[in-house]
Amino acid sequence: MNRKLIFAANWKMNKGPSETEDFVKSFLSKIQGQSVNSEMVIAPPFVSLAKLVEALGTNSQVQIAAQNCSQYDAGAYTGEVSVLMLREFFVHYVIIGHSERRSIYGETDEVINAKIKKAREANLKPIFCIGETLEERESGNLEKVLRTQVTEGLKGVSEKDMLETVVAYEPVWAIGTGVTATSEQAQDTHAFVRSVLKDLYGEDVSSKIRIQYGGSVKPGNAAELMACPDIDGALIGGAALDPQSFLEVIQNGSAS
Ligand code: PGA
Repeated sequence: MNRKLIFAANWKMNKGPSETEDFVKSFLSKIQGQSVNSEMVIAPPFVSLAKLVEALGTNSQVQIAAQNCSQYDAGAYTGEVSVLMLREFFVHYVIIGHSERRSIYGETDEVINAKIKKAREANLKPIFCIGETLEERESGNLEKVLRTQVTEGLKGVSEKDMLETVVAYEPVWAIGTGVTATSEQAQDTHAFVRSVLKDLYGEDVSSKIRIQYGGSVKPGNAAELMACPDIDGALIGGAALDPQSFLEVIQNGSAS
């Protein structure tokens, strides 16, 4: 199955508008004239979206993502941002259910499911994050945890909407720690996640869904990870804060 690789920079709470502009200028000058055949996405903080749109200009090869969205349409939800507001900013993707949202802000599978559906109503493409803690893996609960996250998170999501959704498998113990899953661990887990998607959506749809790996991806390990048959890109935190290192992850990963 030929799935187009997708590399997404998750800047988390880093880079306001001026740093966003500096990054984009540098990144665009580096990719100018190069044919990158993978999808490239940047997810800045909300307040930097406008600057990102402006700095990328028209016909950019880079797509725009938000890091979160509300599960509600509008109203008394202080601090929240709706999917329609994101649409106005030409956002294409939205990260939903990142482990930091789950663990720090208490997002449940139910909330994540509501956000995925809300994103699809506005035609945004969810980057749906799942992943286990070290304790869950070591206690032999890896498959149970991931099956629950996938099944509950996607409850009622149609096949059509699933084809517009990217799954990001990010073992919590590998995020921001410098510890990456070995390519074997990552491939085994991706194959398992695809088998759960197959149970839910059938062979044809599950073989088309892209599953990104995330957790300490860097220029030095991107090629090995991307060479795995069920790994279709990466969600990159720390290594995507620098334009050169983000580019090297994309180049090394795309070459594999
Ligand atoms: P990291 O973050 O690359 O810094 O480990 C990945 C993520 O949280 O999406």
